[in-house]
Amino acid sequence: MKKTKSTTESEVVMTEVVYPNDANPMGMLQGGRLVQWMDTASAVCAQTHAGRIAVTALLDKVVFKSPARVGDIITINAKLVAAFSTSMEVCVQAWARKVISGDKHPVCEAYFTFVALDGNAKPASVPKLKLKTAEEQVLFEQAESRKLQRSKG
Ligand SMILES: CC(C)(COP(=O)(O)OP(=O)(O)OC[C@H]1O[C@@H](n2cnc3c(N)ncnc32)[C@H](O)[C@@H]1OP(=O)(O)O)[C@@H](O)C(=O)NCCC(=O)NCCS
Repeated sequence: MKKTKSTTESEVVMTEVVYPNDANPMGMLQGGRLVQWMDTASAVCAQTHAGRIAVTALLDKVVFKSPARVGDIITINAKLVAAFSTSMEVCVQAWARKVISGDKHPVCEAYFTFVALDGNAKPASVPKLKLKTAEEQVLFEQAESRKLQRSKG
């Protein structure tokens, strides 16, 4: 296993289309369906970084910014912001795009925490995150601060 990995080695971009079965009676994408897609994208990101199976431990700061509607194209970006001992935090952002006009707007943002597991389903160590930019450093420090706050209960 590599000891250190950069964010680009695990970043995930996933695309979905909003069908009527994903929407409420007003044609708006259901929050639970969107979170399911975001969970999948962020799990792939975390597992790629860890090189292990990882389970969702926490959804933090989930904000639904504006609705997506039937027919919209949803783009989900999942990027690792922190790798600790066995846990990792992933920032996940979703946008909706209109097929014809191309107009794009943010729909949701959240931070997902995953814990890597060994073959006995026990927490297992993950590679450190190589921080390459000042922005990545800031995001890492914010994740560290959230983890510290959680540990204080
Ligand atoms: C997540 C889980 C594996 C943690 O197991 P645990 O024995 O409590 O783990 P530990 O107390 O040893 O902590 C291990 C790491 O997980 C982190 N962690 C545990 N619970 C957490 C939570 N609720 N939120 C954020 N991080 C958490 C700890 O901070 C620690 O991180 P670190 O090693 O990077 O410092 C366990 O609680 C679990 O299996 N939960 C259910 C997961 C699940 O079913 N998800 C949905 C399906 S994928």
